[in-house]
This record gives sequence, C-alpha cells and structure tokens, in this order.
Amino acid sequence: MIANKISVLKLVLIFCCLNLLLSRCYSDQFSTAVTVREDDGDQQKEDHDSDQTEDPEDLEVFYPTAEWQTLKPGQAVPAGSHVRLNLQTGEREVKLGEEEGVKHWKQGERPEMNKQSASFSTTELKEALKKFKAENDDPVKKNTEQAEESGGSQFRSVDELKREMETMNFLVETDEQIMGKLLAQFNSTSGTVDQRVSALLELEYLVHQVDNAKNLVSMGGMKLVTDALNSTDIRLQESAAFVLGSAVSSNPSVQVEALEGGALQKLLTLLTAPHPVPVKKKALFAVACLLHHFPFAQSHFVKLGGLQVLGELFQEQGSDSLRLRVITMLYDMITEKELVLQAGVDGGESWSDQYLQQYAELSLQPTLTELGWCRLVPELLVSPDHDQREKALRTLLAMMPDCRPQYQQNPALLASLRTLREEYSALSLSEQNQGETDGYFGEILALLDSLVLKTH
Ligand SMILES: *[C@@H]1O[C@H](CO)[C@@H](O)[C@H](O)[C@H]1NC(C)=O
Ligand SMILES: *[C@@H]1O[C@H](CO)[C@@H](O)[C@H](O)[C@H]1NC(C)=O
Repeated sequence: MIANKISVLKLVLIFCCLNLLLSRCYSDQFSTAVTVREDDGDQQKEDHDSDQTEDPEDLEVFYPTAEWQTLKPGQAVPAGSHVRLNLQTGEREVKLGEEEGVKHWKQGERPEMNKQSASFSTTELKEALKKFKAENDDPVKKNTEQAEESGGSQFRSVDELKREMETMNFLVETDEQIMGKLLAQFNSTSGTVDQRVSALLELEYLVHQVDNAKNLVSMGGMKLVTDALNSTDIRLQESAAFVLGSAVSSNPSVQVEALEGGALQKLLTLLTAPHPVPVKKKALFAVACLLHHFPFAQSHFVKLGGLQVLGELFQEQGSDSLRLRVITMLYDMITEKELVLQAGVDGGESWSDQYLQQYAELSLQPTLTELGWCRLVPELLVSPDHDQREKALRTLLAMMPDCRPQYQQNPALLASLRTLREEYSALSLSEQNQGETDGYFGEILALLDSLVLKTH
C-alpha cells in the first residue's frame, strides 16, 4: 500500500523577528503559530490511481486504508470513513474510520488504527471550502449518481459531502465578519471596559495574519485602536498598543498606515506618562514593531525625541525588564542599520536606493552619544542576569566607534569588564569541561575579550 505521506508543516504566521540579531518586537507573547497540513507527496499521487483498480465493479467506490489517500471526484466512500480536505491541494482525502469501517476492506490484514482529528480554524475551512466549491463545478454528477445507486446507503457520495460542507459554511464566520463584530463591540459606547478589552484581545489574535491586519485598516479599526492609545483607561491603552504592535509587525503597508495615523506620537506620549510597567511594555513592543525595517519611521522617531524617551525609561527605577527591552531595541536599531547598509554595499539585496538612503541619513549614533548612552549602557553590567549582561556587552560593542573615548575614561566600566572576564573565563572553562565547545558563557567571554581589546 502506498502511503500518502502527509507532513505537518508549521507555519509561523507572524514573527516580529526574522532573526535573533536583527529584529524583535519585544513582547512575551508576540507570536502565534498555526499548523496546516501540507501534502509533500506529489509523486505518489500517480501511484494511487493504479492502486484503486483491483475490482472493476468497485471502481467508483474508494476503499480507504489506515493512510490518508486522495479521493477523486465521483468516488464514494464507505460510511464511517474519515474524510478531510487537504488544504494545500484542495483535494479530499480519506482514510479508515473507526472499528466498523474495517469490515468493508479487501486489503487483507487489519490496518493499524490511528485516530487523527482534523480540526480546522475558520480561516482554514473558508479556504478549503473555496477550493472545494470551485473543483466541484466539474461535471461529475453522473458518476456520483452511479456510485450512489451501486453503493447503497452505506456510502456517502461526494455530493452529499458537499452539501454537508455547505451547511457548515453557514455556521462558519469569516475572519472579516468576526472582526466587524469585534470592532463594533469595541466601538460601542454602551459596552463595559471589560467587554471592550476582550474585543481588543481577540482582535490582537486575528491581526497577526497579514490580510486581517490590512482589513483592520480598511474597516476603520486602525483609527479606533490608535485613538484608544490615549484613552483614559490604562487597560484599554495597554490592549490597544498590543493590537497595534501585532498588526504592524512584518506588515509594511500597515506600518505606513499606522505611522500616518499618528500612532508613533501617541505611543511616545504613552511612554513618557507615569503608567504602570505592563502598559509601557506593550507600548514599547508596538514602537519596536512599528520601526522595524522602516527607516522612515525610525528617523521620525529620532526627530520626535524617541531616543530621549528611551533614555528616560532606562533610568526609571525598578524595572529591569523594561531596561532590557529598551537596550534590545537600541541594539536592534543600530545593527539593523549597519546590516542593511552593509548588504546594500555588497549588493546582495535588492533594496531601493531610496531605502538605503533613508538608513544612511538616519542619525542614530551622534544622537545616542549626545544623549549620554555611552555612559548609560555600562550601567546594565551590574545586573546579575546573564542575559542583560550579554545584551549590554553587545550594545557596548555596537556603539564602540562613537563611544570609545568615553569608555576609556570610565574606570567603573573598565573595572567591571575585568571582573566579568574572570567570572566568564571560569564559567566558560567549566562549560568546556562538560563537553560544550560553543557554549553560552564562551560566547559572552568572547564579547568581553573583544571589548577589553578595543578599550585598551
Ligand atoms: C464607531 O462609532 C462611531 C459613532 O458611534 C461611528 O461613527 C464609527 O463609524 C464607528 N466606527 C467603526 C469602525 O465602527
Ligand atoms: C486623544 O488625543 C486626541 C488628539 O490626538 C484628542 O482629540 C482626544 O480627545 C484625546 N483623548 C483623550 C481621552 O484624551
């Protein structure tokens, strides 16, 4: 029996970050993943065809096995079979149902039972139904009717399945319909804050998908969300920032819309006001997503005093997690600019001259130096946290060209570099003794070595 191999493909729909160094929209929960099934066995489909022809009389009846196999138009399947839609090909696939299905088989030994539930999200169903309908406009009715006659009541025809699916179609709402309802719920003046917040959180889930985020804009939802950034209720502010960040992440056209709608200015206002840390975290997340790979927004950010706002956040007492996010954002901006310009020089990427020009004109380093960041970043080294230290060391290195003189005149920095070097030499050694050659501590040690060398 030919196995129709079905691989499960993990589609990570939206990640703010494309790789670890370049990007991060700093939220603990910024990504969502769905799984869809993808058929990777194209070459095996031909084999199926010959496989089903053992008995001429049964041509129109498909005999499922324990494996998923493609069901052709006009074929009927025994009652109790599992039928699902392959979302990649739009074809129906069928396999053995539960115990009672076994008696219909001719394939000899009883195949292994493998319960697989095929649950679909609304989007997946919608997509599958579209393909399903298009394909079933084919004139296969005649065959189907024959199958019904010969098969009797124990077989379900494709037409029957189709009718069932269409009934379901009435029950399944599209993402757009759901978003319309959520926006109405959020926009309603009679709703409670709880109801409005929960509408936002459900929207946040949906806008990870590129098309949903675009629909948010066209449905007027982006404006509502942006307006909510300066709401008087901090829970609404926080959730609105969350929706905004998710909607703009990895979605350039939505980034542009958000910027034009004044979201950046509002987020910066939010960050300077005395709000609880969770609100600021979400606002920072939204800013990072808005700026990511968007040099025009970045220079706007610098002009609006964004780097200064980050400096104030960094110096606020009592929030290490906020500090780490701030420093990560700075580091990402510096390295993103460098990497893009470097790639532009190498000619490996097809970025427009205008895009590269925007990065070239982006004044990060001089402004950072002016605002005292050469002095601020070393403060992070006193943290006992490896992650914070690592991030600080990387940022120190990234700022080296402009900050070097200040580093050299900072005895506290030089001293802590020496201390940390001893500490990580020991940690790296024990890492190696445990057989780890490319360990984390070794990596930190390499950063320290490089810094010590360059501040000499
Ligand atoms: C929100 O409500 C206002 C009036 O209550 C209305 O004018 C506006 O169109 C609504 N916006 C959306 C996106 O539903
Ligand atoms: C939010 O800001 C806009 C202008 O940017 C203003 O019209 C609106 O009244 C503000 N809302 C609140 C609740 O302060």
